Amino acid sequence: MAKIVCRGLTKRYDGGPPVLHPLDMDIDDGEFVVLLGPSGCGKSTMLRMIAGLESITGGDLAIGDVIVNNLPARERNVAMVFQNYALYPHMTVYDNVAFGLRRLKVPAAEIDRRVREVAAMLNLDALLDRKPRSMSGGQQQRAAIARAMIKTPQVFLFDEPLSNLDAKLRAQLRGDIKRLHQRLKTTTVYVTHDQLEAMTLADRVILMRGGQIEQAGTPSDLYHFPQTLFAAGFIGTPAMNFIDAVVQRVGDACFVEAQGQRWPLAGPRFAALHHGQAVKLAIRPNYLKVASAAEEPGTLRLQGKVELIELLGAEALVTLDFSGERLAALVPAGDLPELDNVVTFQFKVADLHIFDVQTERNVSFPVHQNTRITFASPAHQETGVQGAALH
Ligand SMILES: Nc1ncnc2c1ncn2[C@@H]1O[C@H](COP(=O)(O)OP(=O)(O)O)[C@@H](O)[C@H]1O
Ligand SMILES: [Mg+2]
Repeated sequence: MAKIVCRGLTKRYDGGPPVLHPLDMDIDDGEFVVLLGPSGCGKSTMLRMIAGLESITGGDLAIGDVIVNNLPARERNVAMVFQNYALYPHMTVYDNVAFGLRRLKVPAAEIDRRVREVAAMLNLDALLDRKPRSMSGGQQQRAAIARAMIKTPQVFLFDEPLSNLDAKLRAQLRGDIKRLHQRLKTTTVYVTHDQLEAMTLADRVILMRGGQIEQAGTPSDLYHFPQTLFAAGFIGTPAMNFIDAVVQRVGDACFVEAQGQRWPLAGPRFAALHHGQAVKLAIRPNYLKVASAAEEPGTLRLQGKVELIELLGAEALVTLDFSGERLAALVPAGDLPELDNVVTFQFKVADLHIFDVQTERNVSFPVHQNTRITFASPAHQETGVQGAALH
């Protein structure tokens, strides 16, 4: 097992534009880190550089205490699992799993013991004589993981390993991978574009965007304290609601005005807002509730016309038309509003985030929350990317 340290790591392919900008990253020994981000943001490139499958353009990469920039892949003692199962089709599961150890000339009895040990951990015992084509995608991917595990690598790398599986198998294998990590505690870097996978698996999520780190933190940090509009829109399902608004200051009082509605905002959280500032208000669908009869302290209200109701099971996703802006609310299925009715909803001010439209940064954190967050890259320079609907 080993920690991974990147300092000023950069990547260009064949003199092309930078794919990874100078990037600092620390992954602790035994940690399960998920690199999350939209397609093309550089996740696989990063992973392949750790694996030694891709050259490093600039900066340093260390695994354990060794700078590995020029160390060939086979000498790094890392194992990688890809999206496509990468098993030898003509070999049985047993032979596929044993392959790496046979190449190292490990004695047969030792190989047998270890194959059976990892097979047991991944529920492959009954499948050892099978060939890949007679197995389901989930079974094949478990065999691929077993094959990667057998050499007891110091680092596990996964590149979207569940993408080819259907939803049920994905959930099952996600659990298997998590349990495996709890047992082995091998340092793991796992790449995915699926925020749910990231949230459920990770000790720490590193959210990437355009070859840079947007925000890094625990899943809970990213969910509750998104630093940027992008992080707010990318994390959480159903996705965050955004409402365009303008700040108004009248004497000591602070308001935001959106769609002709004026909401008061009191407290030190909002001290940095200035009159005329264009902002986006952000509220998660699960925090938007059908309003109680009497107004509750610390809440704000809005009215919306119920456009769509999608039953999810115990809850329904209700889409509202709030003066032309579409908002989503997660509502208990037993307490559904009527379609086409105008309904009053409420949310707690404490659950509201405010982002500056210009800088795209969260401007509503209390100071003590701000300091909890590991934030790695400067404010994003790119424009034109809105937080919502980025998946
Ligand atoms: N072999 C390659 N040659 C040139 N460009 C590449 C190569 N591999 C990836 N890229 C580019 O690098 C960027 C990041 O790609 P990648 O790391 O695969 O992203 P992700 O895994 O996040 O989807 C993309 O713009 C992609 O087109
Ligand atoms: Mg990729």
